[in-house]
Amino acid sequence: MSNKLEKIAVFTSGGDAPGMNAAIRGVVRCALYNKLKVEGIYQGYQGMIENKFVSLLSSSVSNIIQKGGTILKTARSDDFMTTEGRKKAFNNLKNRGVDALVAIGGDGTFKGAQVFYDEFKIPVIGIPGTIDNDLYGTDFTIGYDTAINTAIDAIDKIRDTADSHNRLFFVEVMGRDAGFIALRTGIGSGAEAILIPEIHTDTKMLLKKLELGKKKSKTSSIVIVSEGDETGGAFKIAEEVKKVFSEYDIRVSILGHIQRGGNPTCSDRVLAGRLGVAAVEALLKGETGLMVGVKHKSVTYTPFSKAIKHNNTIDKDLFELNEILSF
Ligand code: F6P
Repeated sequence: MSNKLEKIAVFTSGGDAPGMNAAIRGVVRCALYNKLKVEGIYQGYQGMIENKFVSLLSSSVSNIIQKGGTILKTARSDDFMTTEGRKKAFNNLKNRGVDALVAIGGDGTFKGAQVFYDEFKIPVIGIPGTIDNDLYGTDFTIGYDTAINTAIDAIDKIRDTADSHNRLFFVEVMGRDAGFIALRTGIGSGAEAILIPEIHTDTKMLLKKLELGKKKSKTSSIVIVSEGDETGGAFKIAEEVKKVFSEYDIRVSILGHIQRGGNPTCSDRVLAGRLGVAAVEALLKGETGLMVGVKHKSVTYTPFSKAIKHNNTIDKDLFELNEILSF
């Protein structure tokens, strides 16, 4: 690819996240502000392969800042995992005159972007868009704040019924193999315990804790279980507890995909706008292979290889904080 930058393309990939639309808007408006042309690619890498492009104008992104989902649609593409698929994608970009890419998504998206750059040298900047918050190099990913607020809202409702019936609830939240959603929603909803993949779950300790709670006259309890926890999820751990405490009235609730939908919170919208602009500005400076993020209030740039999964560590202090708060 040449060094000229006249036209960029933006796409969303992997699981959708609230705020992706606000990020697309940020990218488009900043590109136009800098006299660049912008294409949107439908359905992420799959659309790149299938030639699904659309020219984006300022008006194309009007009235989307508040909408959940992604107007560009998204997909997880198996074809892009093949050299043949990536070659097709590159040829389509070339024919369309695209000089650089902005990829909005999570770790899978950035792994794909890195491989694509290594093979075809098309500059690419990533914007972290995932509810999981499992990327290193940003305090928060776009969609995380909305997802945890959606979860909190649901758990508050569960608490009403749990309390009315003196029940123990196991509530499972998303996060693939990361516990960031569980940790914050657990603290924010006043959970008795939080089970996350990053910290070993000692079932005996959990049982003790639940018993202690009963002795202290707690009438209902909520345990937040991350879907990736080693116990195997909310149903499994509920079964284990029931085996020991048959007298407990236990229920399970899996929050599932409601955590991915809905209007983005103000924090997610502001973050998305900021990162959309930062991504285009990075391309204008000739950067590539970086994820933009915000850390301690400032925009940061992190190489994809560092940003992707397992580098972002859970805040153990927050986990311990809940031990005190739930005492
Ligand atoms: O990565 C976002 C996420 O919602 C994870 O938390 C979850 O494990 C996964 O996507 C679910 O994926 P799908 O929508 O393909 O079932």
